[in-house]
Amino acid sequence: MRVIIEADSDSGSKRAARFLADLVRRKPECVLGLATGSTPLAAYRELIRMHREEGLDFSRVTTFNLDEYVGLGPTHPQSYRAFMQQNLFDHINIRPTSTFVPDGRALDFELHCRQYEQRIRDSGGIDLQLLGLGSDGHIAFNEPGSSLGSRTRLKTLASETVRDNARFFGGEDKVPRLAVTMGVGTILESRRCLLLAFGEHKAPAVRDTVEGPITSQVTGSALQLHREAIGIFDSASASLLVRRAYYAEVEASQQLLERGEYRQLGIGSQST
Ligand code: GLP
Repeated sequence: MRVIIEADSDSGSKRAARFLADLVRRKPECVLGLATGSTPLAAYRELIRMHREEGLDFSRVTTFNLDEYVGLGPTHPQSYRAFMQQNLFDHINIRPTSTFVPDGRALDFELHCRQYEQRIRDSGGIDLQLLGLGSDGHIAFNEPGSSLGSRTRLKTLASETVRDNARFFGGEDKVPRLAVTMGVGTILESRRCLLLAFGEHKAPAVRDTVEGPITSQVTGSALQLHREAIGIFDSASASLLVRRAYYAEVEASQQLLERGEYRQLGIGSQST
């Protein structure tokens, strides 16, 4: 995994927004995988600013969200569909018919999940999947124990996740117990994955995801198998990473490569 450590969540979010915006500019008809939660909020604000001030054009973009609570309709204030409308879609020029969020009120979930996967395939697959990280290291709602080959399906929320999300629902007893979520296998098929985690409370999950063993107990760790997974962290969430200094060196080389400053890296120079 390419690990980018920014000083704080603000610069990390701007960095993430730049990855998304660069793709939208390079490939206007791209397919974005989007995430909910507090982590991507500032990145979405930055995309809205880029749309308003720099004309970033979403008119040909298609989006697929990772997950949705079972039982919540699109107008329920805690539904992920409502979250996406409020925090992104209502403020950019994306076509409403090009935004897909799993339906928490589907009558036949097996069919709905199959169709969701088919839609992703029909759209050409996800170019870039944005991901947050649960405090137990889960991605989307792939709780500990989820198969690393899993597809979009129903998942029972872990008690840690229910506790984490109780603040949005006004109590643990009001949090839905089930969610419909893209699987780890679905996520790994995205061409690029962009994992974000900010704050000290995410430090153990970041450590386990980036430097721990690949295990279904920490579904984020499956990203180690991905060819193009990028983690953007702040110094607090990255504080438990053992190889921080090395990641900074890799980034410095990456910057030189991107700027075409090959000589400083010893590329093209003769050694005698
Ligand atoms: C939920 C979501 C995840 C999200 C996680 C972390 O479990 N299903 O997609 O990454 O919460 O949320 P937050 O960003 O609020 O810490």
